[in-house]
Parts: sequence; C-alpha cells; structure tokens
Amino acid sequence: MTTHSQAHALPQPPTPARLGILLSGRGSNFLAIAQAIADGRIPAASIAIVLANVEDAPGLDAARRLGLPTACFVSRGRTRAQHDADVIACLRQHQVDLVCLAGYMRLLSPAFIAAFPQRILNIHPSLLPAFPGLDAQTQAFDYGCTLAGCTVHFVDEHLDHGVIILQRAVPVLPTDDAHTLAQRILEQEHQAYPEAIARVLSGHYQITGRRYLPIP
Ligand code: GRF
Repeated sequence: MTTHSQAHALPQPPTPARLGILLSGRGSNFLAIAQAIADGRIPAASIAIVLANVEDAPGLDAARRLGLPTACFVSRGRTRAQHDADVIACLRQHQVDLVCLAGYMRLLSPAFIAAFPQRILNIHPSLLPAFPGLDAQTQAFDYGCTLAGCTVHFVDEHLDHGVIILQRAVPVLPTDDAHTLAQRILEQEHQAYPEAIARVLSGHYQITGRRYLPIP
C-alpha cells in the first residue's frame, strides 16, 4: 500500500498587526494590552516595540521583563520636532501599524500625526470633552461630577481631542475620594483600551465627521 502525503496550502492567518506602545510612566495600560493580546481579546496583534521618553519609566522595565523590544528617547532638552523624528523612525523601523499612547505625557507634532494617519490611539481618564489634560480624575471629583469615566480616542494635534472610539462611565460614589475614584476609572481603562484596539484593528468602522460608527 502506498500512501500519498500531499502538501495542502493551508489558508494563512492574517498577518498580526504590529503595535507600538508609547509610555512615560507606570505602564498599567500597556500591561493590560499585553494581557489582552495573550488572552486573545485582541486577535492577530503583537507588540512590536515599547517606547518611552523617560529613562526610568516603570513601564519600560515591565516591558523588558516580558522580553519585549524596548526603546527610550529622552525628550527633555530637545525640540518636539527633533524628538518626534526619532520616535517616528523607531516606529517605522519596527514596522508598527498602530500606535497606542498609554500614559505618554507628550503632545504629538503634526509630523507625527501625519506619519500615522488614523493610526494613533490614546486613553484619557475622563469622559471627554470634559476635563482634558492632567489630573482628570481629580478635576472631575473636585467639580462634583456624579459620573466620571474614561475615553479611548484617535489622536489629533490637539490635547485629548480626536474622534472618540469608546467611553466607559464610572459613577462617583458618596464614599469616594479622588484616589478611589481614579482606581475604579483605571479598572475600566484596562477593559476599554484593549476593546477599542480590537475594534480598530477589525477595520469594521467608519468615521463620519467626529463620529466613530461601527460597521456590523
Ligand atoms: C492613565 O490614567 C491614562 O488614562 C492616562 O495616563 C494614565 C497612565 O497610566 N493617559 P498607566 O501608566 O497606563 O498606568
């Protein structure tokens, strides 16, 4: 009896999208994204590079411990254009498809936005357009909001401003202080950011004006 083994061309899975993570600090959103990729909640994605603008950013150490490629370009003392040129070159070198700002404490230059059109995301710990900028959770708490939350949005040249992909609301409890509120917002951030990345990578959406509309 003869057996024939025939080489069948198996359908190729889609090439994983390559994420570039930019951070300046603790990196808990980066770790939530990494965990979501590991769990399959962000299908067909990998982290190509974790890049920081601060040498001792704890998120950079966390990335090294995970064995991910890392880079650091210290921004202090350089112009925005000089610094962003280095970052763009690094992201291109690592063939990044989607840039995810995860606590990256810098406004991006127009050249950066143009280098990755509709391909840069950010997470902000408020229900935008309320409370852009620093300490958004404390701003919401001090204002007396009864509802706070987080927003994942495309990045444009303005601070915390681009098209909104998704938002998660977090009630402000009578027992809250700014710290406990920020903690509960952060829990939602860790769910929302991976979900938004998966939505964007699916490509099943269109943008009309400022509106992000899922396509079923
Ligand atoms: C998060 O609150 C995020 O919304 C904001 O910066 C913070 C970063 O936290 N943009 P982490 O470094 O991801 O823990």
